Amino acid sequence: MNLFNVYPLYQIIPSHAKGCYVYDKDGTKFLDLYGGHAVISIGHSHPLYIKELSNQLNKIGFYSNYIINELQQKVADEIIKQSNCVDYNLFMCSTGAEANENALQVASFNTGKSKIIAFKNSFHGRSNAALASTDNLSIKSKLNNSINVTFLNFNDKENLKKEICKKDVCAVIIESIQGVGGLNEPDTDFVKFLADICKKSNVCLIADEVQSGFGRTGDFFAFQKHGIEPDIISMAKGMGNGFPVGGVLISKKINAQFGMLGTTFGGNHLACSAVIAVLQTIENEQLMNNSKELGNYFIKKISNIKSVMNIKGRGLMLGLEFDFEVKELRKKLIFKHKIFTGGSSNKNLLRILPPLNIKKKHIDMLYDALKIELS
Ligand SMILES: Cc1ncc(COP(=O)(O)O)c(C=O)c1O
Repeated sequence: MNLFNVYPLYQIIPSHAKGCYVYDKDGTKFLDLYGGHAVISIGHSHPLYIKELSNQLNKIGFYSNYIINELQQKVADEIIKQSNCVDYNLFMCSTGAEANENALQVASFNTGKSKIIAFKNSFHGRSNAALASTDNLSIKSKLNNSINVTFLNFNDKENLKKEICKKDVCAVIIESIQGVGGLNEPDTDFVKFLADICKKSNVCLIADEVQSGFGRTGDFFAFQKHGIEPDIISMAKGMGNGFPVGGVLISKKINAQFGMLGTTFGGNHLACSAVIAVLQTIENEQLMNNSKELGNYFIKKISNIKSVMNIKGRGLMLGLEFDFEVKELRKKLIFKHKIFTGGSSNKNLLRILPPLNIKKKHIDMLYDALKIELS
């Protein structure tokens, strides 16, 4: 049997990984400035992560959500402590798309409405409502047309107001920094306006923090820069450092009912132990500070390269914009300089999403490689 061929693959076969490095079968060492799509938050094979997961596996790896799992409460308490998002309840699931699907489902239950407002260039995942809210026609099927979504530009207050006034909207879903879409950010003034109009109109504001959450931008969640309180916050990626786990924080104002949401695998014991190890490491190693400091160092250092037109993003969620397509540059970085970076729907943008504990020397390595390729 062949594999269903949906991924254009680079010909690299990893055998093991440690910290910021991935090694292939021949022992070639690659610097991982992509974190497997912003997933590796505390570094590959972190000792505490291995210890927590191994200990948990020796006790109980899984049982379903029909008996008590005390670890879920521990995850909730730790997220509150580190994020300072106190007025929320936690529901755990397994992926980012599932987190957004659940967020949209709760919004629709809560308002009794079904229309969604999303933003141009958005990416929210591959399940039905999440994909319908994603602004990329090439990955949608007719099935996704059954969901009513309006796409707006960031900072377009007028059309936002017009749409919300129609009184059929259940949710506005927003990435405070777009990931796949290429690191675009709305203005604080717009985000505050959005939060305010949602509150006044009983529309659920969903912050998609799947990629930007868990300390990646230097704040626990990227929306916190704007001083707002969304009704629902979706999370995944860095939350499990590679273990498939996601979750939604749901405002205490929204009441839960038995059966409203559900999952077989979500929030299982092993998943919780991965999240606990991640949160402990973020705290022990002050990784939010490191994201902020190293993000600033990155911007300062890389701006010395003349052909970089623009550096977008914050913390360790960054994009380098050029006036040419980066496909060939990415290939050179991987195969010649042994550095993983990412692309985006903006073909001129190189995405940088390293583990949150990278050091200056790793940024210097990218700088040296770019110097060689671009001078
Ligand atoms: C902002 C955002 N939301 C949702 C998703 C979907 O997450 P997953 O691939 O875990 O379903 C992604 C994945 O890239 C993402 O970047």
